[in-house]
Order: sequence, then structure tokens, then C-alpha cells
Amino acid sequence: MRLLTGKPGWSTSADVVVIGSGVAGLTTALNLRSHGLSVLLVTKARIDEGSTKWAQGGIAAALGPGDTPDQHKKDTLIAGAGLCDSKAVDVLVSEGPEAVRKLIAQGAVFDKSETGEIALTREGGHLRDRILHAGGDATGAEVSRALLTAVKSDKGIEIIEHALAIDALKSKTGRVCGVLLHVIGAGSRDGVGSALARAVVVATGGLGQVYSQTTNPAVSTGDGVALALRAGAKVADVEFIQFHPTVLWRDLANRGQQPLISEAVRGEGAILLNHKNEQFMVGKHPQADLAPRDVVSKEIFNQMQQSGQPFVWLDATRVKDFQSRFPTIYASCKANGIDPLKEKIPVAPASHYASGGVKVDLNGQSSVAGLYICGESACTGAHGANRLASNSLLEGLVFGTRIAAALAKQLPAQEEPVYESKTTLLDPKIVLPLQISMSEGAGVMRSESSLRKTLQTLNELSKLTSTEPQIESWEASNLHLLATAIVQSALIRKESRGSHWRSDYPQSSDSWLSRITTEIDESGNWKSDLEPIQ
Ligand code: FAD
Ligand code: SIN
Repeated sequence: MRLLTGKPGWSTSADVVVIGSGVAGLTTALNLRSHGLSVLLVTKARIDEGSTKWAQGGIAAALGPGDTPDQHKKDTLIAGAGLCDSKAVDVLVSEGPEAVRKLIAQGAVFDKSETGEIALTREGGHLRDRILHAGGDATGAEVSRALLTAVKSDKGIEIIEHALAIDALKSKTGRVCGVLLHVIGAGSRDGVGSALARAVVVATGGLGQVYSQTTNPAVSTGDGVALALRAGAKVADVEFIQFHPTVLWRDLANRGQQPLISEAVRGEGAILLNHKNEQFMVGKHPQADLAPRDVVSKEIFNQMQQSGQPFVWLDATRVKDFQSRFPTIYASCKANGIDPLKEKIPVAPASHYASGGVKVDLNGQSSVAGLYICGESACTGAHGANRLASNSLLEGLVFGTRIAAALAKQLPAQEEPVYESKTTLLDPKIVLPLQISMSEGAGVMRSESSLRKTLQTLNELSKLTSTEPQIESWEASNLHLLATAIVQSALIRKESRGSHWRSDYPQSSDSWLSRITTEIDESGNWKSDLEPIQ
């Protein structure tokens, strides 16, 4: 099954096609080059679009005095609530420090303390100060700048912007051998075309736009995960959508990307207050306001239910040098009429991160030959049921390096694509009702009845098909596929764990210490399995 498109009108090729230009795609591309492979880097909007440039808090790595990968591992496992893959976490925390040093060598500049050492801060779930940051709260922008500078200066990486990857191309052996693209370009590469390669790396980021309010930018429509599902790959842990606890509350009328108030603001002393001015996280968890993010989001949700108000307060007036430490957040508060130096900030949870994604091994290989996945689109198992703060940029650096090394060792010859004739496409009109239904029924708290209601809405929306291939329809179809996968997995998991909170099954149960995997067979039927945690 593939999305409906026009006929491919042009073709190009490289050793490897990398889809996406965030930390994961850029790191993979640079490392492929260091192994001498030619790279075609395609990205759906401008090259600097994506979640990476919005990252605030920083990158977690055991670089501080006395810190060790083992301590980082412990915090990651606790946040992951029993569902982390221990080997994937080992890789992340032990290869993380070297990956960060390499990033620094590539030109990324991190903030320093008064003594000239790299300044480290703390975020939810970390028992140590271990988060490197840049420009105060503009870490992602600096990571993106440094990697983009390196990528743009490498003549062996061809970049195509405004190039939306629609579907994987497979050979008659079933191996992925390229990708169908839609390019808004000039000259010969305009419209639908095919990019052939000996392997394809999907690094298309998250799927926050499945929900009404998200910290994710507009490009985060989960295209790569949907592409992989249609290509026959397994996804895993997709029910674990992480809701960031402190997103600036503006109004329900504000949909799409909302301004984030980094967890690092609490790391530097800000506190959460309810409408009775009580510091409600105290006594709820030993780390209080700096408990793992699922714990804080749940408690904020409880407070909102109790008060009937759609937000709680974040008091940052006590944070030292707020304006210089958090310049981006200061500016976005001011732009929304709030002075964080003098006033409390209204905050509420919003969809932030997909802890699951396309199931991959430790070298980013999906269950389909030739198809590799990196970054937020992947489920390496390192995040389990709830990603630890600032482990995502790190994951892109570490696994991008590993994927390139694995491909350099074994890259088969180019195969010829066979064009699949069965197509599907949904009308862009479905997006708004889909997002509202997902936020209402599959949000911070879910239940059998809320999920069933959302599934029913999704079934109704699937009847609104389209015959007009265009960006909005491809994105709408992808959002619908992912929303369905999330709701189905959330229905299967009859317990509460990490960021999956079921009001009808409020406890965790050892009988659920398994990963839910989902795939779509060639006739379009969904199939889910339980895989015990390693
Ligand atoms: P992205 O950076 O999202 O890049 C995806 C790329 O794929 C983009 O270039 C996009 O345009 C492209 N793309 C998408 N679809 C297609 C398509 N169909 N065809 C072609 N290209 C496509 N994590 C941390 O570790 N620390 C933090 O401090 C932190 N703060 C965050 C703050 C915010 C506001 C947000 C939203 C996230 C934050 N995260 C943080 C999470 C982290 O930023 C992301 O998980 C990470 O950047 C994902 O990197 P990526 O390369 O996988 O995806
Ligand atoms: C934040 O700065 O609070 C976000 C960090 C993250 O998502 O890892």
C-alpha cells in the first residue's frame, strides 16, 4: 500500500538517501561521508526546520565531575518505567559522552560556568547536573547550526529542500531501494520523482501534530513512521506519547505549536503552584518539581481537574538571571504579555515527544531490509515508557553514528524498484477533527471509553478520501495512520505506566512488562504483538 501520487517524472540516486535534516539526519549524513559514501539529504521544508532547532534544555551526557554512564543509565531506566531496553540504554549513555565531544569538535559551542568549565544544569528525572546547554535555552539552534555548517561544506552531500518523502520504494526482493519524493523545486526536479539508493535512512522526527496542542513544529507529522508502516515495518511503544508538563498556556483556541517553558527553568529553581498557591509537587515524589515528566504532567492534570482551570502556575520569579539564562523563553513570555521576572507563568501539558516509533536494532535497522530509522522516528528501546529529559538530541548523535558505521560495513548493490499499485489518500479536512479527538480521547489520561470514542471518530474520518495528491493530503493520511496506531496500542495496554495513563487501569502491572509492536500486512490489516522486555 502507498499514498496516491502523480507519476514519478524524474529520478536521481546516491549510495544512501537520508530523509530529514534534524540532529539525527545531519549526524547520519556526516558520518556516512566519513565512511566515503555519497549521500542525498532530502528535507520537507527549509533545511533548518524540525524539532531540533527548538530544543531548549540541552543534551544529557555523563561529562560532569563524579558522573558516570552508569548513573545516567539508572536515571534513564527509572524514567522509562520498566520498559527500557537495557542494551540500548547502555549504548546511549556509554557512547553519549564521545558523541558530544565530537559535536564540540565539529564546532558546537556550549555555555560555560564562571570557572570556564562546561556549565551543567538539571532537568526532571536526573539526580545530577548533567545537561549541557547553549545560548541559555537555545541548545537545539546551536546543535543545528554546527551540524548544518559541516553538512553544507561537504560536497559529497547533495541537499534537496522542500522535498517531501511520500513512500519507500521496494525491489522485487522486498528490499527498500529508494524513496518516492515530492519536490517543490525549479527546473527538472519538480513534482513527484524517485530517489534511488542502496539504503534509506528515515530521520523525520516526531508526530506531535497528531494532537491539538504540541511543542512540535508544523513539519512534525510523523511522515517517516507512517512511510515505514506502509512499507511493512514494525512500530513499537507508540502509546507512550510524552506530554511536556510546562507548555505556556494561552488559550484552547491556539492550536498547533505552542511555546515551551523548559524543564531547566525548574532545574534553576522555579516551582509549580496550584490556584491555591500551594506547591503541589511536594510530597508527591521525592524529586518534587523535578520528578520525571510523566509524573509532573499527571499531577498537573489532577490539579487542573480539581480547580476546573485549564492551567497551573509556574513561578520563575526566584530564578537567578532569568532573562540572560533563558532568553528565548523570556522573549516568548513577553510576546504573550507575561513578564516572568514579576509574574507567574500559566502552564499546561502538551504533546511533546514520541517515546516509541519504528522498531529498530542497535544499528537502526528496521524490520524491513534496507530501511534504517534514526532519532525521534525510531524506537531503539532506550526511552521505554517515558524518555528522560535531554536524552533525545543525544540519541540522534549516538545512533546516527552507529547507523553510518553499520551501512559502511554492509551496503548491497542498488536494486530496481517495483511500483506498488494499491493506493490510499485522505482529505486534509480530517486534520482538525482528528487532532481534537486525539487530545480529548488519547491525551495525558485515557480510558477504554475515551479511546473507543476516538477510534470511532478515526474510522469515520477514514471515509473522507481524496483523489487530489498534494502535501496536505499526504500529511493528513500520515496523521491518520499514526493516530490509529497510537489509539490501538493504548487500548491494548490495560495498565498505567510511564506516559500511558489509563484512568480505568490506574496501576502498573508486571504482566505488562512487554513492548507492544504493530505492523500492517500486505492486505492492509493491522497486527499487534507483545514482545517481552530484554
Ligand atoms: P527533527 O529535528 O524533528 O527533524 C526531522 C526532519 O525531518 C526535519 O528536517 C523535517 O523537516 C524532516 N521531515 C519530516 N517529514 C519529512 C518528509 N516527509 N520528507 C522529508 N523530510 C521530512 N530533546 C532534547 O534532548 N533536549 C532538549 O532540550 C529538547 N527540547 C525540546 C524542545 C522542543 C520545543 C521540542 C519540540 C523538542 C525538544 N526535544 C529536546 C526533543 C528533540 O528536540 C527532538 O526529539 C529531536 O530534535 C528530534 O530530532 P530528529 O532529527 O529525530 O527530528
Ligand atoms: C525541556 O527543555 O524541557 C525539554 C527537554 C527535552 O525534551 O528533553
